[in-house]
Amino acid sequence: MDTQAVIFDLDGVLVHTDRFHYLAWKKISDEMGIYFDEQINARLRGVSRMESLEIILERYTGPALSDKEKEELATKKNEIYRNYLSQMSPLDVSGDVKNTLRKLREAGIKLAVGSSSKNTKFILEKTNLADDFDEVADGTMITKTKPDPEVFSLAAKLLGIDSAKCLVVEDAVAGIEAGKAAGMKTAAYGDAAQRGIADHDLGRISDLLEIVLK
Ligand code: G6P
Ligand code: MG
Repeated sequence: MDTQAVIFDLDGVLVHTDRFHYLAWKKISDEMGIYFDEQINARLRGVSRMESLEIILERYTGPALSDKEKEELATKKNEIYRNYLSQMSPLDVSGDVKNTLRKLREAGIKLAVGSSSKNTKFILEKTNLADDFDEVADGTMITKTKPDPEVFSLAAKLLGIDSAKCLVVEDAVAGIEAGKAAGMKTAAYGDAAQRGIADHDLGRISDLLEIVLK
């Protein structure tokens, strides 16, 4: 496969902020008496903050919530989440991820982040990952989140690389669908790798080296 660029999802691929998303939503759910578990959480991967809230509220049985109340819940979740993020450091990036990024770059492969998150820049700064990428496409730059291809198409455009020459790395089913819809090759990691829906399933991020540099 003639890959010229790799576009990485952030949460759950480059860093394990997916755990912090889970903990923050769990706190909101518990306070409101809404059932929430890892299986429901898997549906939130790659999905925007407000869409995530709607999925959680599928099990809400209390009085109807106004748009303002929903906004307040999403803001509260983000405050809890950012509190976790503020404690992150470069140590939260595994050696496996760091080495893989370095080796891909040394081989002349372009690298981008493609994330639905509006906290992308903050996470990249806290973990010192920003300089490892040529381009970043994130939730502040798009109108439709995964499974829509917008964020990945934007990343390819910023890189100046044809979509067919891009490989998307994702832990979300919605993200693999987005990569396919963008006309890109896909590599699944973590949760998405259990589903057999991508072109490649990764046991660890460095498995990419064999796929891209072979
Ligand atoms: C990523 C995560 C989702 C999250 C979304 C928005 O795609 O996988 O779980 O809901 O980003 O994140 P944000 O940081 O903007 O709330
Ligand atoms: Mg993810």
